[in-house]
Amino acid sequence: MSDPPFALIATKRVLMGLLSFIEGHLTSLLVFLVDLVLVVINLVTPDRPVGHVVPEGHPGTGGKWPAYVAPNQGDSRGSCPALNAMANHGILPHSGKNIKFKELSAAIRQTYNFGPTFCFFVPNYAATMLNRSYWTDSFDLADLDVHNCIEHDGSLVRLDAVEEPDQSKISRPLVERLLKAGTGPNGKLTAADLSRLLGQRRLESKKANPTFSQAPIHRFFASSNASTLLTVFGGEQQDIRTLLTEERLPDNWEPRVRHQMGLTMMEFNSSVLKVELGIREEVDGSLQAAGQERYGPGGKKAE
Ligand code: HEM
Ligand SMILES: *[C@@H]1O[C@H](CO)[C@@H](O)[C@H](O)[C@H]1NC(C)=O
Ligand SMILES: *[C@@H]1O[C@H](CO)[C@@H](O)[C@H](O)[C@H]1NC(C)=O
Ligand SMILES: *[C@@H]1O[C@H](CO)[C@@H](O)[C@H](O)[C@H]1NC(C)=O
Repeated sequence: MSDPPFALIATKRVLMGLLSFIEGHLTSLLVFLVDLVLVVINLVTPDRPVGHVVPEGHPGTGGKWPAYVAPNQGDSRGSCPALNAMANHGILPHSGKNIKFKELSAAIRQTYNFGPTFCFFVPNYAATMLNRSYWTDSFDLADLDVHNCIEHDGSLVRLDAVEEPDQSKISRPLVERLLKAGTGPNGKLTAADLSRLLGQRRLESKKANPTFSQAPIHRFFASSNASTLLTVFGGEQQDIRTLLTEERLPDNWEPRVRHQMGLTMMEFNSSVLKVELGIREEVDGSLQAAGQERYGPGGKKAE
């Protein structure tokens, strides 16, 4: 049998590429359109009453979270305190293993009242980054820690991966520094506080870590992760302390965002941009200069 002609193969190849390009962009476009609709619904409907944010019949209804059980040896935990907490409460499998991406979407919607758009977008993105299928595959919490895939340097509450390869490890000093930084009423964390802390972390991380890297997408992720403390946790010291030091949800806690359709991507993004665009070190030259002292004149490594 002879090979099909070049023109046929090439045409097929180009069409396939085009199709997957359109498919990818169509999905994003659709998610943004739906998100816009959710924004409008949230505007015209009353918020859920206090005490009723978590839907009836789901873990956490009325602030009653399933029992917290610390992870056992062999359980999988990763760099995300919010997902670890869900596993510690058994809202995700306590082992932290074999979690379906689809199952994660539903769970973060019910637990943290993120909107359905965000709840699809983020796990779908994570699946893509891990080269897996959102619809059929699963993951372990620690799988999210592939460096510079999703996990990144200069985090608020984790040391850089070169310094601490186990990214499930809580860095107490970093958490304490974060908790002390709140300048709002009762020490509440504000967007300005998070900008300041992220700037400080990026600076010290770049100075100390010769392999420091932070692509723009990772900076955006870092501020999105940090912003959840302002939105979902309302900047509240005590609640954030419980989340970050024990990876546990406080008794009687419920998400601070009470919108009917949850936290939309659009609303979340405005909070994220406020944090990211407020980082002084990104514009005053200090981040750019950080770490240069390792190299002699002309960019050569100093002895
Ligand atoms: C839905 C899927 C989610 C995925 C795949 C995910 C993934 C991650 C990853 C990989 C990190 C570590 C990033 C790094 O510092 O290197 C992280 C950190 C974090 N995530 Fe998540 N996350 C998810 C949902 C959430 C939710 C729903 C919340 C809050 C309610 C949340 C709050 C946080 C916080 C506070 C951090 C720590 C930020 C820092 O140390 O700078 N995450 N997440
Ligand atoms: C996914 O596939 C790409 C391209 O083959 C590869 O560079 C990347 O390392 C893979 N990611 C993971 C997490 O295995
Ligand atoms: C946290 O950051 C990771 C990437 O570092 C991202 O996939 C995830 O969407 C972020 N989570 C939130 C709630 O912003
Ligand atoms: C909002 O954030 C997502 C990631 O969470 C990003 O992909 C998107 O481009 C942003 N913009 C809007 C309008 O949602």
